[in-house]
This record gives sequence, C-alpha cells and structure tokens, in this order.
Amino acid sequence: MGNDAQTGPDRPVRQQQAADGGIEIRAVTEDELPLWDRGVARGFLRPHLDEGIEFRRLQFEPGRFLGAFDPYDPTRCVATFRSFDSELTLPGGALLPVDAITAVTVNSTHRRRGLLSRMMHRDLTAARERGTAAAVLIAAEYPIYGRFGFGPATRGRPLTVDLTRASLRAGLPESGGRIDFAGMAEVRKLGAELHERWRRTRPGALRRSPVWWKLHTGATSLPGYDWKEPFVALHRAPDGTVTGLIAYTVDDTWEGDSPNCTLTVHDFLATDGPTATALWRLAFSVDWVRTVSIGVLAADDPLPLQLTDPRAAVPGRAGGDFLWLRLLDLPAAFGARTYRTAGRLVLDVTDREGWTAGRWLLEAAADGTGRCTRLEGPADGPADLALDVAALGSLHLGAESAVRLVAAGQAAEPAPGGAERADLLLRTAVEPFNPDSF
Ligand SMILES: CC(C)(COP(=O)(O)OP(=O)(O)OC[C@H]1O[C@@H](n2cnc3c(N)ncnc32)[C@H](O)[C@@H]1OP(=O)(O)O)[C@@H](O)C(=O)NCCC(=O)NCCS
Repeated sequence: MGNDAQTGPDRPVRQQQAADGGIEIRAVTEDELPLWDRGVARGFLRPHLDEGIEFRRLQFEPGRFLGAFDPYDPTRCVATFRSFDSELTLPGGALLPVDAITAVTVNSTHRRRGLLSRMMHRDLTAARERGTAAAVLIAAEYPIYGRFGFGPATRGRPLTVDLTRASLRAGLPESGGRIDFAGMAEVRKLGAELHERWRRTRPGALRRSPVWWKLHTGATSLPGYDWKEPFVALHRAPDGTVTGLIAYTVDDTWEGDSPNCTLTVHDFLATDGPTATALWRLAFSVDWVRTVSIGVLAADDPLPLQLTDPRAAVPGRAGGDFLWLRLLDLPAAFGARTYRTAGRLVLDVTDREGWTAGRWLLEAAADGTGRCTRLEGPADGPADLALDVAALGSLHLGAESAVRLVAAGQAAEPAPGGAERADLLLRTAVEPFNPDSF
C-alpha cells in the first residue's frame, strides 16, 4: 500500500493532511510492533506491558497494521489501526469475506485532527481494492463510526440471572447427550471445530482465528487482558458429536458462612436448542452459585422465557448495538444472503465516499435467492427507501427494522409503504448475532 496521497482519491483527506502537521500514516513493519503496541496501550488508556509483543507477532500481517508518526518524534506511534480478513455469516448461511477492524486508537495528544478519518479511509479503500464486500467492527462509543458508513448490525447484551428468584422451567426438551469438562488443549481443537459448525447456523457470526483460540485457552497471552483458566464443558450428542460448549469462571464470594457466588459465562455455543438448555442447566445448578452473569447474549435469545420467572433475567445494557457493518459492495453483500419471501425494492443510497451511492434494485426470487443491481439512467418513480449506507448496514443482516429507521429519521420512504416492504424482504426470523469482541 502506498501513502494516502497516492491511494486516497478524495480531497478532504488531503486538506486534513495539511492541517495535521505532516503526520505520516503508514503500515508498520514487524520490527516496529513494540512502538505500535505502546501506541495502542496509550490510546486505550492502559499501562503498557512489553510482553504484548509475542501476541502481536502472532497476529502480524504486513500492510494491515497502520501507525501514525509525528515528525516531531518519529519513534512514537501516535495512532494505530489494524484490520484482518474474516468471514461474516449471512442469513441463509453464506460466508461473506469482510475486513475486520480493531486496535483503533489515537493518542490524546493527537485527537480530532483527522487521524482516524485518514486511517479508516486508507483501510476501507484497500479493502475495496481487494474485493472485500464489507467491513465490521465493535464500537467503543456509539457516535464514532456512523460518519464512516458503519451501522449497528447485530444486537447483543449482557444478562444477569438471579438464581434465588428463578430456575429453568421443567419440561424443556432434553438433549439426551452428556456433558464433560475439557482441558484447554482439547478446547482448542474441539471448540474450534464446534465453532466452525456453529457459525454457519448463526447469521452475524464471525470466523474465529487460531490465535483467538490460543488467547482464550491460555496458549498465548495479551498483557492487560485478564485471562484466568475457565471451566469449559462440552456437550456431546448421543452419537458423540460435540454440539455445545460453555466456558465460565466462578468467584469466591461468601457472606458469613453462606456462599453467594457469581458464575460468569465467557463463551457459550450450542448448535441446537436442547443442547443450549442442557448447558444452561449445568450453569444454573453449580453449587454455591446464586447469580449467573452472561457476558453477551443475543437480544432474541429464548433463555429468559425458559425461566420460571423471566424478570429474574436482567439485561445489562440498553440498546445493545454490538457488531457494526459498513457495506462496500452492495451486489456482493445482498447477492450472498437469502430472503424469506419474493419481492422487489428500490433503494436510493447516499455514501460520502461515493462507493455505494446511487439507485439500486434489490430483487428476491421465490427460491430465496436475491440480487442487487445498480439502476442507471433517469429515476423511474420514487424509491422505496432513501437512506445512508450506514442505515443500510443496519438492515442488511435483518436485525433492524426499516419502519423503525424511518420513524427515527434515519431513512425515508419516498414511495408510501416502502419501509414495510423492506422489512418483509430483509428481516429474519432469528436475529443475527455475533458474540465476539475483537
Ligand atoms: C475515537 C478516536 C479513535 C477518534 O480519533 P480522532 O483521530 O480524534 O478522530 P477524527 O479526528 O478522525 O474524527 C473524525 C470525526 O469524528 C468525530 N469523532 C471522533 N471520535 C469521536 C467520539 N468518540 N465521539 C464523537 N465524535 C467523534 C470527530 O469529532 C470528527 O468529527 P467532524 O468530522 O465532524 O469534525 C480517538 O478519540 C480515540 O482513540 N479514543 C479512545 C480509544 C477509542 O475509543 N478507540 C475506538 C475503539 S473502537
């Protein structure tokens, strides 16, 4: 990749460069990882711990670790940005190659001078050139990424279950399988294989890399990421197939001579409902445990309704935006997902980068396949929906309602009823869900 002046076609980026004191943005080399890692720690307001380098080396890919350098002190990395290739499961189960963005930081000394804007522009331009249809990220703060065309595309939130108030209802379907604890090496192998199957069943899921499994099983460490070996239990179906996994830790809280422990769920995968129930039964029946705290659960997960008192399950966060999606190639992104009904939608899309801007026709056939094509020439009547690419990102996986976006002023329906037609076409029976922060 060259510098922004070569690869970045638009004027605002160049204007920004003039205003930022000649700060250079470039891909860092593997030898520069210590500098880069120090920059990440400063940006995330964490003390720096040198041992992070081994982990960074495992992740390193030339060209995908960006750093910003101020000529005042070129040995200091004042902003960081990293992307890696992943795959996003779409409604219907297709895997869409995506650019996953992480480690986005700008040091407090250099904030609001356009450094994030330049890094983002450079990375997304490169992703498009590689033919990647979309980009994804987890937003630290809601207001950061909409301007770059990202919209919240999956929901997920923590859930705390008070076991003194509720338990799982009797009579839920039994799995007929068995549950056993597994060692970390076994989890790295069987957990990864299970996840490969699970992610194909859940729109919104992302691929987990081998480094992800190493980090979450203690085979490598990231200083500052407080990993303690969890209890990991695997569920096996009667034929021996691993169909579920739960990873949890338990704190050691006692009040006088009575236990009052919290079981914290760090990972939960189940390829079918009875497996999920069996794993929840395990978690809810551990001696000494009075509270189960689930790190992230899909907004439409049935678990609260499976309790004797659903009010005992308290969501930890309002809103619950989790994975954010930036569409880069509409024909690829909408052509790869499936649709529950046949239909036709005309979209007027704005995109400040221009990449997806224009009028598009989305058509779904009765067999569930769809295609999205650009409409050239003069407009033939009003569009069903007029919206920014960020709002379209929120609709793409089916999590958000077009009717709701119109009511919120985030989309318009020039043709009456357009939002309702969009919802009929795009919404899914099961919400997309991604449990992984990255
Ligand atoms: C968030 C962060 C990366 C922004 O970097 P930056 O270089 O200051 O951003 P830019 O100067 O390119 O800002 C571009 C625009 O986004 C806005 N913006 C940036 N960060 C914002 C935030 N946290 N909240 C609201 N608006 C924000 C800017 O005001 C600017 O708006 P404008 O175009 O209308 O002037 C930086 O503040 C940071 O590192 N924060 C702490 C770590 C963090 O939260 N990282 C994100 C992890 S997901």
